[in-house]
Amino acid sequence: MKYTIKVTRTTKSRISDVDFDNIPFGRLFSDHMFIAEYINGEWVNPRIEPFAPFSINPASMGLHYGQNIFEGMKASVTQDGDPLLFRPEMHARRFNRSAARMCMPAVPEELFLEGLHQLVGMDKNWIPPREGSALYIRPFMFANDEFIGVKTAQVYKFMIITGPVGPYYARPVSLLAESQYIRAARGGVGEAKAAGNYGAAMLPSKNAQDKGYDQILWLDGRDFKFVQEVGTMNIFFVIDGVVVTPSTEDGTILRGITRDSILQLLPEMGYKVQERPLSIDEIVNAYHKGTLQECFGAGTAAVVAHVDKIAYKDLVMELPKMEDRKVGEAVKNYINGLRAGKIEDTKGWIVPVKMEATVG
Ligand code: COI
Repeated sequence: MKYTIKVTRTTKSRISDVDFDNIPFGRLFSDHMFIAEYINGEWVNPRIEPFAPFSINPASMGLHYGQNIFEGMKASVTQDGDPLLFRPEMHARRFNRSAARMCMPAVPEELFLEGLHQLVGMDKNWIPPREGSALYIRPFMFANDEFIGVKTAQVYKFMIITGPVGPYYARPVSLLAESQYIRAARGGVGEAKAAGNYGAAMLPSKNAQDKGYDQILWLDGRDFKFVQEVGTMNIFFVIDGVVVTPSTEDGTILRGITRDSILQLLPEMGYKVQERPLSIDEIVNAYHKGTLQECFGAGTAAVVAHVDKIAYKDLVMELPKMEDRKVGEAVKNYINGLRAGKIEDTKGWIVPVKMEATVG
């Protein structure tokens, strides 16, 4: 191993305070965090420390100009309690694609994965055992030069924090197709997991929530015609027996790892799948013809979230009820089964957490 990770263990674990039968999403954090700094062109001082607030210079560039990216991934346990990661290399690679787009340095895959394995291994008791729950893992990087001129930063901090989570959406979600604001346009940063993509969605999301919808269904940034994604997840439709999801070639849609997994799984499960441009008009027409059978979102946090309603302009499309949501339910159960070690992993997606002794 090229990187030696210095480990400082907490002297007082907080795990006994956690009610594993009642875990909210994103509010609990496990005992340790991973940190490394990028200074003078190299990653230095990789370490695992007790999870705690840290100080930051008010002029830190990341606070001002948004060179901030993140990932979302999950660890789970088998029925025997063995900790697993789901496609960690894919997340490391996507993190570095986001970094490249935001003109930030790549985190060497070896460092990303080594930090991840050691951190999750140390906090493995924080992984909730219940199927559908998981240890959510949040790697992130931000520009940390103490300078308020606009330039590409030279100093960065890369961190990984984790925390136990239950389902992101506890019930089916309603979507409002957005006809005023956009999430991403060609040439922009839609494909990157850049913090600003999420910040820019706050106002339209709040407007949608004020109207009674959970999330936005984003349409393309030029004509408001083609469906993109939901912001917290990619989107799939079942139209006349075919599963359709928007293609990602134009760089406006996050290349979801759950999305990719579903695209590989569905044909093997006997479903016909298409990855192509999909217009909101096609969805409306299918709804009127009675061929809009299902809609579900897919993402790391959400896994698979059924959609029960989509509003577009004056039309509110109610989707078929739970017993008909067969495709979404099938892939959700498959992915959760893989993560629980109940379904054999034939694709090499499930990676056991390396439990070797950590250096300290
Ligand atoms: C994820 O699915 O991991 C995400 O990053 C989406 C959201 C929680 C921001």
